[in-house]
Amino acid sequence: MPSAEMIALARAVMGRAYAPYSKFRVGAVLRGANGKLYAGCNVENSAYPQGTCAEVAAIAAMVADGERRIVEALVMGEGEVLIAPCGGCRQHLREFAADMVPIHLCDCTGVRRTVTMGELLPLAFGPHHLEGPPHDDGG
Ligand code: THU
Repeated sequence: MPSAEMIALARAVMGRAYAPYSKFRVGAVLRGANGKLYAGCNVENSAYPQGTCAEVAAIAAMVADGERRIVEALVMGEGEVLIAPCGGCRQHLREFAADMVPIHLCDCTGVRRTVTMGELLPLAFGPHHLEGPPHDDGG
């Protein structure tokens, strides 16, 4: 289970999402290997394709802080239907999260389901296919 701090942060950042077009606010919180939490929300744009997802915003905050390994992730969305990261966000998360990393899918009240990175994006193409990033453990 995620910490109460992680859930509270997701709720707070989701509340600050800029989603006037879809009216679907999302908050994402990542725990880095350094133990710190990084949060992001979706930010839409009147030129629709320019909008950005909550997960990508949280990843940008993490990388900007010098961290490159996700050890736990939480995504919180509004509505009755269970939130699930979009396909693009699954690939973004996989860049920094190994297959066993837990991802908590939440509504405003808390966790509804926890899955692993590997369950969200099986048979992923990832950094382990290429030479380079030393942060990756090969999934
Ligand atoms: N959204 C996210 O922020 N993350 C996801 O994984 C799914 C979708 C946002 C994008 C858009 O602002 C709104 O939810 C509706 O698609």
